[in-house]
Amino acid sequence: MRFTRAAVYSALVVVASSTSSILSSTSSSFQVSAFAPVSTNSRSSPTNKSSSSIFRVGIMASSESKTALSYTVGIVGATGAVGKEIRQVLENRNQLPVDKLRIFGSSRSAGTTIDTESYGSVTVELFDVDKARECDVVFLAVDGDFALEHAEKIAAGPDGAVVIDNSSAFRYKPEIPLVVPEINGEETKKSKLIANPNCTTAIGLMALWPLIKAFGVKRVIMSTYQASSGAGQPGMDELQEGTRAYLNGEKNIQNKIFAHPLPFNVIPQIDKFQENGYTKEEMKVTWESRKICRLSDDIPISCSAVRIPTIRAHSEVIVLETEEPVDLKKARQVLEDAPGVKVVDNPDKLEYPMPLTATGQYDVEVGRLRKSIAFGDNGLEFFVCGDQLLRGAALNAVLVAEAMDKNGALASAKSAASADTKVDA
Ligand SMILES: NC(=O)c1ccc[n+]([C@@H]2O[C@H](COP(=O)([O-])OP(=O)(O)OC[C@H]3O[C@@H](n4cnc5c(N)ncnc54)[C@H](OP(=O)(O)O)[C@@H]3O)[C@@H](O)[C@H]2O)c1
Repeated sequence: MRFTRAAVYSALVVVASSTSSILSSTSSSFQVSAFAPVSTNSRSSPTNKSSSSIFRVGIMASSESKTALSYTVGIVGATGAVGKEIRQVLENRNQLPVDKLRIFGSSRSAGTTIDTESYGSVTVELFDVDKARECDVVFLAVDGDFALEHAEKIAAGPDGAVVIDNSSAFRYKPEIPLVVPEINGEETKKSKLIANPNCTTAIGLMALWPLIKAFGVKRVIMSTYQASSGAGQPGMDELQEGTRAYLNGEKNIQNKIFAHPLPFNVIPQIDKFQENGYTKEEMKVTWESRKICRLSDDIPISCSAVRIPTIRAHSEVIVLETEEPVDLKKARQVLEDAPGVKVVDNPDKLEYPMPLTATGQYDVEVGRLRKSIAFGDNGLEFFVCGDQLLRGAALNAVLVAEAMDKNGALASAKSAASADTKVDA
C-alpha cells in the first residue's frame, strides 16, 4: 500500500510543530514507513498542510505496518531524447512509486499531451521553478545552462524537490554527488541535488569498476565510437536527414549539430577542444571516472572520443593496466557477476558487443576480452557497447531516484533542514 510523499511531509511538519510533546517519547521510532495512506491517489501541495489529515494518517498507522511512499515526479525536457527515455524507464521498471507524473517543457511543447500507459495522458506544463518545487523529485533533461539557472532553485530549502540533473553543470562541484548507483549509490544521502554522469563514463565504468576492484588499476586508455543520439534528438534527426539527402545524390549535406556532415563519415571531435589538446567530452571521462570511483589524480585515465554515424548506443575500446596480474578466467567471472553487465563474448560464433544489439538494453554489453599485448600480464583489453540514452542517462537517473527511495533520502528530502542540501537558491 502506498501513500503520497506530500501527506508524509505534512505529517512530519505538523508533528514537528504542533505535536512535539505528544511524540517526544516516541520520536526515535517515528518512521515515515509506519504511516498509512489517506488516499493513494490524492496529493496536496507541500505547502498545503492539513493537520486533520495528519492525525488521520497517524491514527491509521497503528493498524498498518507495511507501507511504501508514493511520489510526485517531474520531468523537465520529456520531449527530448533523454527525457523521453526517463518516462519510459519509470514506466517499464515500475520500481519507483509514482503517485503523479508532471512533465515540463519550453513554450515549444507546453500544452501538448503525452500519452503514458501508467500515468494516463499528461499535459506538458510550461516550466516554472515554483511548479517544479511542488514535486518530490525532478529529473532535469535539459542543457547545462538551464540546469545552472534552475537546479539549485528547485532543490533549495526544506520545501524544494530532489533534483537529478543529466547535464554536466554540477558534475565537477566537490559538494555535489556524481552517482552511478552500482558504484557509489550511498552518496545520494548527501545532497538534494545529484549529478548524473556523462554517458561515455557511465557505460565504461559498468565494466571497468568491477575489474578495477578485482585487479587494481595503474592506468586506463579508452577510445570511443559515439552514436548521433549523444547529441540528443536533433543529432539523430541530422544523421537521418543527411543520410537520406546523401543517398538522393545531394552534394551539400547540412550540418548544424555536428562539426561536419556525419553520414558516411567519422568525426574525431565531440564537444570543445581544451588547452591540453583533448576535447571536453574526453576530459569528462577522466574527471568523472576519478570522482565516481574515488581514484587518485595520479592514475592516468585518457580518452579519445569519435562521433560515428550510428543512431544509438556508444561503443568503447578500453585498455586497463592493472596492479595485479590478470587471470582471464577470473576477469570473465568478475564481469559475469557484475550488475548491469552482460558478457557477449563468443568470437567463434561471431558474438561480441555491437550498437545494434546493445540498443534498448539496460545492461551494457562487454566482450572481446583479452590480455593486452601492450601491458602483458598486467593488462586487459575489451570492447563495451551500451545504450547511452539508457545506461548513460535515463536508466542511471531513475536508478538514482530508486536508491534514494530505498535509503530514505527521498522520504526525508522535503523535511530535511536546508543545511543538508548544500545548495542555495
Ligand atoms: N543524449 C545523450 O546521450 C545524453 C546522455 C547523457 C546526458 N545528456 C544530457 O541530458 C540533457 C538533455 O539532452 P537530450 O539529448 O535529451 O537533449 P534534447 O533531445 O535536445 O532535448 C532537450 C529537451 O530540453 C527541453 N527544453 C529546452 N529548453 C527548455 C526550457 N527553456 N524549458 C523547459 N524545457 C526545455 C526541450 O523541450 P521542448 O521540446 O519543450 O523545447 C527538450 O525536451 C543535456 O544536458 C545532455 O547533455 C544527454
